[in-house]
Amino acid sequence: MLKKSVEDALNKQLNAELYSSYLYLSMSAYFEEIPMKGFAKWLRIQAEEEKAHGMKFYDYIIEAQGTVKLTKIDAPKTSWKSPLDAFEEVYAHEQKVTGMINNLMDLAVKEKDYATQNMLQWFVKEQVEEEANASEIVAKIKMIGERIGHLFCLDHELGKRE
Ligand code: FEO
Repeated sequence: MLKKSVEDALNKQLNAELYSSYLYLSMSAYFEEIPMKGFAKWLRIQAEEEKAHGMKFYDYIIEAQGTVKLTKIDAPKTSWKSPLDAFEEVYAHEQKVTGMINNLMDLAVKEKDYATQNMLQWFVKEQVEEEANASEIVAKIKMIGERIGHLFCLDHELGKRE
């Protein structure tokens, strides 16, 4: 049985993951409009991945006999100054999410909730990958600079994501 404090924090993270999905879907729409279809595809798949993260919290809360409480999802921005601006935001957002997962882990440790700690380990590992992916794309866009042809090559590369 989940403690109320842990249940509330898990529900909050469920909302945060769904917000991440919303944010990346909004970014995907921005890239569709530019148009840079490869970036758009990468982000659309990322949005699906974030929804799956949210569903991991959803399923865990139910399995641990807690109550799922879905709350309002904030509206994300709809435009960015450039591909670099967008991906710097992805990277910053993932660093923020890592902080949230770490805070959740701190709470589970404080409450001696071993099952939740075990479940959160998956997210601790996942966040290392999430930050690395975003950081790599930011670095590539920075290296490309103003060379638009190279930016389209990166767009093509990102569009290969399945
Ligand atoms: Fe659900 Fe991108 O972390």
